[in-house]
Amino acid sequence: MSLIFVLNGPNLNLLGKRQPHIYGTETLADVERDCRALAAELGHEIRFHQSNREYEIIDWIHEAREVAAGIVINPAAFTHTSVAILDALNTFEPPVIEVHISNVHKRESFRHHSYVSLRADGVIAGLGTQGYLLGIRRVATLIAAAAS
Ligand code: DQA
Repeated sequence: MSLIFVLNGPNLNLLGKRQPHIYGTETLADVERDCRALAAELGHEIRFHQSNREYEIIDWIHEAREVAAGIVINPAAFTHTSVAILDALNTFEPPVIEVHISNVHKRESFRHHSYVSLRADGVIAGLGTQGYLLGIRRVATLIAAAAS
């Protein structure tokens, strides 16, 4: 059993209420529940966090360095601004999958650039909250491949 961190950036605490035509009606609690169920099915455990503060996300990545076998991260707006989150992820060796609920490439041009993509092993965008589950599946596949 490995530990996978699922990290969420700013405003995702409002998932379900926030621009539902873009982000859907599922809440972050719904996403957390589904991520936990899938991780258990795959024989892994998750630590699920959300913050509106950049430093907290960085601190969780540092914590992940010590204990986690992979990270699934939706950095939200920090995707497009945060060299600090990129730097933190660059200190983390195991798999990193970047998730966006919406298709950022279909939206404003400032959402087309991601600092995090410079580190991510894979990027999922536009698949709704299902992207988190696919991200966990991919991390689990990479964990199994690294162990074999
Ligand atoms: C997002 C896309 C970002 O551009 C935006 O700032 C978010 C959410 C997504 O999940 O689609 O807050 O990461």
